[in-house]
Amino acid sequence: MSRSLDETPLSLIYTIPLCETDAQLVGVFNVGIVVVIFAIIGWHGLVGSAPYGKSAWEVTKPLSLIWCYPINARFTWMFGHLPTIVIPWVVILYSPAKYMYNFANLSVFILFYVHCFYRTVLYPIQISRNATPTPVWFLCSIFGMTVIHIFVETHHMVNILQLESFSMTAVIGIPIGLLGGWINWRHDFALTQLRNEGKGYQIPRGGLFEIVSCPNYLGELLKWWGTALMTSFGSVQVMFAIYCTIFLGLRANFTHNWYKSTFGHSYPSTRRAMIPGLF
Ligand SMILES: NC(=O)c1ccc[n+]([C@@H]2O[C@H](COP(=O)([O-])OP(=O)(O)OC[C@H]3O[C@@H](n4cnc5c(N)ncnc54)[C@H](OP(=O)(O)O)[C@@H]3O)[C@@H](O)[C@H]2O)c1
Repeated sequence: MSRSLDETPLSLIYTIPLCETDAQLVGVFNVGIVVVIFAIIGWHGLVGSAPYGKSAWEVTKPLSLIWCYPINARFTWMFGHLPTIVIPWVVILYSPAKYMYNFANLSVFILFYVHCFYRTVLYPIQISRNATPTPVWFLCSIFGMTVIHIFVETHHMVNILQLESFSMTAVIGIPIGLLGGWINWRHDFALTQLRNEGKGYQIPRGGLFEIVSCPNYLGELLKWWGTALMTSFGSVQVMFAIYCTIFLGLRANFTHNWYKSTFGHSYPSTRRAMIPGLF
């Protein structure tokens, strides 16, 4: 019965979700992800797309309650993802972190942390001042989910998952993850620069935009499935990759339809939503 957080300042964590062991903690997280996936599918079917960016206000503005207070997009991305750069160090400093310096675990952790740093610090700097503000309740939900996800992900990576120094899945996963990171950054950058021109939403051109509407989401998916491969399909990493696939798939479908209805015949009909030639 493994309880690697016993006798550390983090031992209280076991009592919150009524868990006895590390395995149960991970199990509760994975079940939680399944619940969130169903909630997202339900929300999408009954209410609409997630309330940020192109769909930030279609659902929430008519309610005009205090929890819909508009928050600057840069602040939303920075504050919402702040736990991703702070919590890993809390886990590493206050838990045994016995697998942290295992070569394979350390490599995955470094790539994971580079992504967290990009999303929390570099991406918000790159976002335009003209970007659409986000309702405060959505910022709170991002923050809450990020705290839980990053705690469990780091704990899993440094205390639970003992990776082999060499594995075929890692050999395949590393280039997929790196390629995904590049595609994601390259197309995020193009979109934020378009927004910076201050002309409102436009049809994005160049790169993978010529074949899909949301190449930045495609890159994000490759990044998380690459990570799942690098951990030889660690359960936390696979569940998070599934969550991203569902969330970004629904969002790409919304964005693709939004482009077609906004730009009509000017929008290239050959583009798919997110996966070239398929979806
Ligand atoms: N892992 C996950 O579960 C997850 C979930 C969500 C997002 N993400 C990642 O976070 C990043 C941003 O996601 P997102 O959904 O905000 O991306 P997005 O809708 O493509 O927007 C990115 C930025 O570009 C602007 N923009 C988008 N389309 C534009 C257009 N046609 N013309 C001019 N400007 C445009 C947006 O402005 P507005 O804000 O004003 O629309 C925003 O500032 C992506 O890399 C995505 O993969 C990950």
